[in-house]
Amino acid sequence: MDARLWFPATERNREPLAEVLGPLLPHAGLVLEIASGSGEHLCHFQQRFAASHPQLRWQGSDPLETHRASLAAWAAHLQLSAMAEPLALDATQRPWPLLRPALMLCINMIHIAPWEACEGLMAEAGAQLPPGGRLVIYGPFLEDTVPTSASNEAFDASLRSRDPRWGLRRLEEVTALAGRCNLVGDGRWPMPANNLTVVFRRPD
Ligand SMILES: C[S@@+](CC[C@H](N)C(=O)[O-])C[C@H]1O[C@@H](n2cnc3c(N)ncnc32)[C@H](O)[C@@H]1O
Repeated sequence: MDARLWFPATERNREPLAEVLGPLLPHAGLVLEIASGSGEHLCHFQQRFAASHPQLRWQGSDPLETHRASLAAWAAHLQLSAMAEPLALDATQRPWPLLRPALMLCINMIHIAPWEACEGLMAEAGAQLPPGGRLVIYGPFLEDTVPTSASNEAFDASLRSRDPRWGLRRLEEVTALAGRCNLVGDGRWPMPANNLTVVFRRPD
């Protein structure tokens, strides 16, 4: 049976994401993705950067078995030799296995999970990334100085009605949390559909 899942948004945002990610990628080491979902993003990135970054290894993770199976099935289908087996990883459950990633990636999770998932993500990034290593986060955010789009306001309300622990995160609060975890802001990229890519870095 084919375990591959298709998440339509990944086809729309994977190239804009790859454009931001490319210059941030380390030369070698492990790219660890948290909350991989279908796995389509990570497979796309591995394919897209295989020639330019042949020394990178890639590993996804997700708490859901169906999502891990989808990532593994996509990787097998595309014959991605640099893709490790996906990990069963819940960001709220610390400590995580010691993986020492060179870069961490988390797309569309922190608003669809309790705040504790963002806390776990930041704490582990601060503990596991090497000096200069980056955490790349993508998704919709609230910001003090930027008016929230009507679509993001509606999305926030619908998330909170599904689970009161969910909802769009305020970038200033995420940045303050990152600071408490020994990470500094390293850039903010406006993305299509009122999303942001936000990067944090372990100081050198
Ligand atoms: C909206 S999906 C995003 C999936 C994928 N990154 C994408 O953008 O298509 C949210 C993902 O977060 C995962 N997730 C939810 N709670 C989590 C947690 N506490 N730790 C890690 N992942 C979590 C879900 O299993 C799901 O795969």
